[in-house]
Amino acid sequence: MEVDVWCVRLGGRGAASQMLADLLSATERKRAASFHAEEHRQKFAISRGVLRFLLGHYLGVEARSLEFEYAAHGKPFVAEAGIHFNVAHSGEMALFAVGGLEVGIDIEKVRPLADLMSVAGRFFSEAEARDLASLSGEARSRAFHHCWARKEAYIKALGIGLSLPLESFRVSLLPGEPAGLLEIRGNPGLELEWLITDVAAPEDYAAALAVRAREIRLWTSPILEPDQLPVALYARKI
Ligand SMILES: CC(C)(COP(=O)(O)OP(=O)(O)OC[C@H]1O[C@@H](n2cnc3c(N)ncnc32)[C@H](O)[C@@H]1OP(=O)(O)O)[C@@H](O)C(=O)NCCC(=O)NCCS
Repeated sequence: MEVDVWCVRLGGRGAASQMLADLLSATERKRAASFHAEEHRQKFAISRGVLRFLLGHYLGVEARSLEFEYAAHGKPFVAEAGIHFNVAHSGEMALFAVGGLEVGIDIEKVRPLADLMSVAGRFFSEAEARDLASLSGEARSRAFHHCWARKEAYIKALGIGLSLPLESFRVSLLPGEPAGLLEIRGNPGLELEWLITDVAAPEDYAAALAVRAREIRLWTSPILEPDQLPVALYARKI
């Protein structure tokens, strides 16, 4: 099973960003307008425009004509046959995963957090918090963000948001350890049915993808500016 990940920088007010924002539906424009900060309005509009542009190519339909539906906890999907996607944004970057099976993706900008251990105490499993406590400085900060991205990718693949207690499963986080789902509390062995893998992202970001599959073929785009998307899609033969 193939999963493509598109990595796009959302900043900028160039012609391509405007063209992408113009693809939004009336409902999406309303949602964009509801953000207080201009920066958030713009980022939502460009991100949703990129999603429409990408899916339009995968499905061979007009980007504007796509109709998104939303699952119980807000995960968007399209009813069209056999295509799944998930979106994540942080800082200037957005990731778009597109594939033939339910997928979750997350990206987190690595930033200094004064209360990192207390956040881990609240949201991470005991074992994750213990792993994190064994690290210090920069390594702890990076591990924290990788852990966060891997956990969130998993809950986004499930699509059930925070109705799943975040401490009820354990991901790897120690430097040098491969990304992975290590344990799902109360379901021994189920973790083996899942794949959590890191996704290439700029140096100051942590990004991960989760799918319920033992193996996938993962393709990742280089970091693209919005105006590079058409050529990149052509090169990918989409
Ligand atoms: C969606 C959710 C799971 C993540 O949201 P977030 O971190 O704010 O934002 P992200 O950039 O990762 O993802 C947002 C995108 O996910 C998608 N999404 C929305 N609801 C979703 C859901 N239930 N499942 C999967 N994807 C969802 C949307 O496409 C959304 O993009 P859009 O707003 O442009 O349409 C959010 O509902 C949530 O509950 N976040 C929990 C945050 C947290 O405490 N994480 C702790 C991890 S240790």
